[in-house]
Amino acid sequence: MKVLVTGGAGYIGSHTTLSLLELGHDVVVLDNLCNSSAESLRRVQEISGRNVEFRQVDLLDVEALDAVLAEFQFDAVIHFAGLKAVGESVENPLAYYQNNVVGTLNLLHGMDRAGVRTLVFSSSATVYGASEQVPLHEDEPLNATNPYGRTKEQIEDILTDLGAADPRWRVALLRYFNPAGAHASGRIGEDPRGVPNNLLPFVAQVAVDRREKVTVFGADYPTPDGTGIRDYIHVVDLAVGHIAALEFLTSRNGVFRWNLGTGRGSSVLEVIEAFSEAAGKKIKYEFADRRPGDAAISYADPAAAQDELGWSADKTLAQMCEDQWRWQRKNPLGYSEVG
Ligand code: NAD
Ligand code: UFG
Repeated sequence: MKVLVTGGAGYIGSHTTLSLLELGHDVVVLDNLCNSSAESLRRVQEISGRNVEFRQVDLLDVEALDAVLAEFQFDAVIHFAGLKAVGESVENPLAYYQNNVVGTLNLLHGMDRAGVRTLVFSSSATVYGASEQVPLHEDEPLNATNPYGRTKEQIEDILTDLGAADPRWRVALLRYFNPAGAHASGRIGEDPRGVPNNLLPFVAQVAVDRREKVTVFGADYPTPDGTGIRDYIHVVDLAVGHIAALEFLTSRNGVFRWNLGTGRGSSVLEVIEAFSEAAGKKIKYEFADRRPGDAAISYADPAAAQDELGWSADKTLAQMCEDQWRWQRKNPLGYSEVG
């Protein structure tokens, strides 16, 4: 298949691009590099020994977007491009609605004009809001609690309406739980700009001495050790989930939604412990107040993806930590330290 990957230079996009290439698909990446580096794609080509066409284009630039859709005959689009920082979305909601919702509308109009109507979309477990009906099932009502999450919910609604209006569309809404880890080569991984918002990259930066200690948000949750529980999923398992969804869509019209998670929860302290084990060193942490808006416990019911896609996330938390540590250790400053 010839696949357009929007946001393909980013964390999950670069790993998915690599998996697509390894399976023999042809990939064109469209990315404006607002939160990534083209170095990731250089390394994806190096690992796979295959070429990736790259177009530095912003989804808000309709003309440039249409030009890419006209240049190639795509079979499908995997749409990662978007802004993803919850706190930033609260401070600057218009930028989030503009980039994520308008950017997606531009993409959908462009795809329709080009006659490409197969799409895999990066949604998020954030659409479930603070629901603690664990394990979270796809039928759980959506109730995002911040502008970032609402962009995902709105895009899910837009795609659901589009599928109902035009049965030619084939759409997968993939609700990721907590992506973690890196490719086993240690050549590509997550490279957050500024202070990481998420737990794993923060812990990794403490392990590599870029930061002094981890702040654990909340020690008084109703969980066995008092810290928040999440469903961490290896980014390579996640990448493979996208390809399973693409394959499903080759024979099915309609709009489908799947959780991509492991179905297992780990607490913040368990993550710190697993990372210490992988890195062979103690990782300093201190307790602080809960972070506003955080749920106590969130993990997936992954049965639908397992039954319908024949996909499951098998890599363990220990593997995520080992791979993330290898990436961090080899690239202490991420891609800015080119090598
Ligand atoms: P990322 O920031 O590494 O990748 C997103 C990519 O999109 C970046 O390369 C960025 O430059 C690009 N981009 C953003 N806006 C663009 C625009 N207007 N035009 C072109 N390119 C644009 O993030 P990621 O972690 O790889 O996440 C990928 C997707 O998965 C996002 O949509 C995110 O919301 C979603 N998601 C991520 C997580 C997570 O924890 N990482 C969880 C659930 C869902
Ligand atoms: N945490 C800390 N210290 C930190 C960072 C996080 O204790 O420095 C805790 C959080 O309180 C939470 C857990 O670690 O209990 C995980 O936090 P993350 O920020 O890594 O992940 P979240 O579950 O809060 O959110 C992430 C993404 C969202 C996405 C969601 C579900 O940031 O965009 O996963 O996919 F929607």
